[in-house]
Amino acid sequence: MNTSFLVANWKMNYTDQQTVASLHQIVGKSTLFPKTRLIICPSFTALASAHKLLSNTLIALGAQNLNHNTKGPYTGEINSAMVAEFCSYVVVGHSERRLLFGETSDDVNLKSIAAMHQSLQPIICLDGQSDATRQSNNRTLNIDELVIQVREAIKNFPLNSQFLIAYEPSWAIGSGEPADPDSVNTIAAKIREIVTSVLGSDTGMSVPILYGGSVTLGNINNYCKLPELNGALVGGASLDPAELVELAVSIQ
Ligand code: PGA
Repeated sequence: MNTSFLVANWKMNYTDQQTVASLHQIVGKSTLFPKTRLIICPSFTALASAHKLLSNTLIALGAQNLNHNTKGPYTGEINSAMVAEFCSYVVVGHSERRLLFGETSDDVNLKSIAAMHQSLQPIICLDGQSDATRQSNNRTLNIDELVIQVREAIKNFPLNSQFLIAYEPSWAIGSGEPADPDSVNTIAAKIREIVTSVLGSDTGMSVPILYGGSVTLGNINNYCKLPELNGALVGGASLDPAELVELAVSIQ
């Protein structure tokens, strides 16, 4: 797989106007990183403007969440058809959502399936931890917990499903303490093995696996050059448009 993926998770940071201003700076430089698949995920309220600005560019648009229900009395929620009007990707299962909003592995699975029904590719975030381990801030990876989490996320997926996985230990997110690259490579290989056992080797070998958690310009290639990795999901360091362009250039 030649493409390097770079997902910019802008979280709850920019208004519509600020998003547009930042995107203008990035689009103008996109010829500098033709081989990086850059996926920018701004807030819901900026998706329509971002979609207009990014159409006819190579930069893709993603949302940060969705509700798996198709419609109905879910005040404040946004379904997959609404996201698919503007986006090609959607982040699901971010550990901030698991920790702060009580999202379960079942929710993540239902969201992913709802996304794929609308031809959106879910970017499934996994930290390899049970809810109890995450809440206790325990950093030791328990392989059984990783296996359970991956299997729950992808259960009932049709064969040949198109999705990405981002391995993001919750303690590494926004902490300035990224995970050790060698162990990330081992865990990515394990994730690939689990995906292969559930969905077959075509999907297992082709699913892009990214790393996220305190990625910066200084360390991104410690991850993107790993044999089992296909890119990075970046939060804080993706917010500055010039830095995001540099990240995209550096991994191609
Ligand atoms: P961070 O966030 O790069 O600020 O650690 C990563 C993420 O959103 O998962």
